[in-house]
Amino acid sequence: PLTDLVTPASAARARGTALGAFNVVLLEHAEVFARAAERAGLPIVLQISQNAVAYHGGELAPIAAGALAVARRAEVPVVVHLDHATSVDLVAEAVELGMSSVMYDGSCLPYEDNVATTAQVVRMCHARGVSVEAELGEVGGKDGAHAPGARTDPAQAARFVEETGVDLLAVAVGSSHAMTERSAVLDNGLISRLAAVVPVPLVLHGSSGVDDAGLVAAVRAGMTKINVATHVNVVATAVVREVLGRDAAVVDPRRYLGPALRAAGEEVERLLRLYAAA
Ligand code: G3H
Ligand code: ZN
Repeated sequence: PLTDLVTPASAARARGTALGAFNVVLLEHAEVFARAAERAGLPIVLQISQNAVAYHGGELAPIAAGALAVARRAEVPVVVHLDHATSVDLVAEAVELGMSSVMYDGSCLPYEDNVATTAQVVRMCHARGVSVEAELGEVGGKDGAHAPGARTDPAQAARFVEETGVDLLAVAVGSSHAMTERSAVLDNGLISRLAAVVPVPLVLHGSSGVDDAGLVAAVRAGMTKINVATHVNVVATAVVREVLGRDAAVVDPRRYLGPALRAAGEEVERLLRLYAAA
């Protein structure tokens, strides 16, 4: 069934494990990720980013409706989350469409503007029972907050949560977005210090750049939601290349997307089990 983000995130935090969040660009992603979560017997977050909405010609409704239908029919709790929204209008549309959670990303704004806009988003979303994740980063927009050198200050993070009322907080601890190799080194000491003073679950973005051992260490240090997009695409695209390279007669997308997405689903299942065992 469809669930909000706070319920499974709080449960994971209480157990010292983490919740897996994976980005949905195609309807098939939602389908295979939900099946992976069912096989693992664990909740999952299906997230649709503002960038994915742009890919769909600026239309959130069709892909959101698909993900919501998958979530409602799933045998495990599934969160349908708007990821990296910088547009308050898009957040409002997500709420209207019945999505259960949103990330408002004001990390490129000056601190006071990030607080003011995030607090406004929280009021709007909480009135409708929708969870809010926000981000406290530094200059430079989406990737700026997750440049390898960017770090979130624990005292400022605690103050930000108090001032905005957000349900989860994305923090900068050494990961960066869209890495195709798992070579990032996280600051686990900083994760522990953040987890000690921030009263809500912490979110790791750009987790594709972190290897299995690094992910387990980050969960043990206090990360509660682990966002992976690129790594799953790396796995799927290798299969597409292999199938098309092997047989020049293949034209039906089911012939290359089918096996590629099955491989993606297996990797998602493996990661969900890894976080749950951490
Ligand atoms: O919000 C989405 C994640 O941060 C995904 O980042 O593509 O680097 O795994 P990634
Ligand atoms: Zn992200």
